Amino acid sequence: MSDVKDRITELKEKKGAVILAHNYQLPEIQDIADFIGDSLELSVKSEKIEKDLIVFCGVDFMAEQAKVLNPGKKVLIPTKAALCPMAALLPRWLLERYREQYPGVPVVLYVNTHADAKALADYIVTSANAADVVSRIDSDRILFGPDANLADYVAEKTGKEVIPIPPSGHCAVHQTIAPIEVQELIEAHPDAEVMAHPECTRETRKLAHYVGSTSQMLRHAKESSSKKFIVVTEKGLVYRMQKEMPDKTFIPVETAICTNMKKINLDNLLKSLQEEIYEVEIGPDIAERVRQTLIKTRKLLEK
Ligand code: 13P
Ligand code: SF4
Repeated sequence: MSDVKDRITELKEKKGAVILAHNYQLPEIQDIADFIGDSLELSVKSEKIEKDLIVFCGVDFMAEQAKVLNPGKKVLIPTKAALCPMAALLPRWLLERYREQYPGVPVVLYVNTHADAKALADYIVTSANAADVVSRIDSDRILFGPDANLADYVAEKTGKEVIPIPPSGHCAVHQTIAPIEVQELIEAHPDAEVMAHPECTRETRKLAHYVGSTSQMLRHAKESSSKKFIVVTEKGLVYRMQKEMPDKTFIPVETAICTNMKKINLDNLLKSLQEEIYEVEIGPDIAERVRQTLIKTRKLLEK
């Protein structure tokens, strides 16, 4: 074990910290994390953590979500530079305008938004449950933001009118995976099953046999009888898949890299633990409203 890894492990034990990591994190971060998951799993996990210190290896909105769900704990993110550009596409002021423009239309926000915008949502979803939640809302017209590709996927799955806010919000990593790139991988690996994230465009999603969140794709690969998979999402997920399923082969889209996710490394993780930086703070009123909306969303899924 490298010196840095040893020091992280030692400090983590000494301070009673828990390291959470998203599926797109660098291999060395995944290896040292206590728990790895998709946005939904990380939310569920954060809420249940009893230790006082959570170090979140992911992007800004994910760490915010952990603080909202477990406000009594100290939540750290190792660098303030790990920002999800898509989450910034629907700030609170813009959401207020859409609400005025479409009075009475329920607002469903993707977890990839900031807490102050989430405080104005009727429901909060992740890629793992978006279609399920929207199908249960008592309205055929829904405002959905900020990912227009996920909104389109939800519309396809539910048959509802899903209005994307803003009209062309997207994740640049998934938006720029061109269908031709996937087509070439399919031609090179005709025996592979194709899995894609719903943040991909409709044209790219159409090439997939299975569409799901990062952890849903992981589970699908475990359950499938296929031995080879083309994984159409951010490349980091393939590391976890290959590690957990060494007898199967996973082919990534080499160009699909979320540079923000990769801004967390062993050095800034160690510094974060040493200096207890950077603490995530959410105003208590905002946090309470978001928590209530998450509870309301959960109850809808239990019906
Ligand atoms: P998942 O919730 O599927 O892990 O997705 C998070 C994300 O940011 C996808 O780009
Ligand atoms: Fe945001 Fe896209 Fe990176 Fe996911 S992959 S964190 S949506 S920029």
